[in-house]
Amino acid sequence: MTFQLEQIEATSKAELYANLSSQLRSLLEGERDLIANAANFASLVYHSLSDINWAGWYFEQDGELVLGPFQGKPACVRIAIGKGVCGTAAQQRETILVDDVHDFPGHIACDSASNSEIVIPLIGEGRLIGVFDVDSPSRARFDDDDARGLNDLVEIFLRASKA
Ligand code: SME
Repeated sequence: MTFQLEQIEATSKAELYANLSSQLRSLLEGERDLIANAANFASLVYHSLSDINWAGWYFEQDGELVLGPFQGKPACVRIAIGKGVCGTAAQQRETILVDDVHDFPGHIACDSASNSEIVIPLIGEGRLIGVFDVDSPSRARFDDDDARGLNDLVEIFLRASKA
């Protein structure tokens, strides 16, 4: 099977994410494997959003976050819950938007090109499963529309995959 990534010509972020949601549903259809779905999810986001340099997962394992499938440069493997942007989103169980990572206390710099970041926690049946992290070389690249859109995508992933 080949999956054709659509060239999205959206006029708004809402339209862009609606299109990505429908592409994601087709991409994950009929597959429950968490790692396979996480890998395709990261690839879809990485190749569809403009102006980003990293997109990927960290999954909770024995009380810390461990690197999962991603696209971009190699990244730090383990992050303590509560540390960095990812660990903070995991601890607070809330989406975190950081306009300038250099102003975020304890930010973990994996790629020096990154300047802004968004992290979405993945919560299944009240349990922290992991986080999805996207980095951009531009400052203030992400806004509330990205937060809403990425949360919708993570929700689709959660329903489709066996955690
Ligand atoms: N910057 C993140 C670490 C992960 S990388 O950006 C891929 C953080 O502070 O948690």
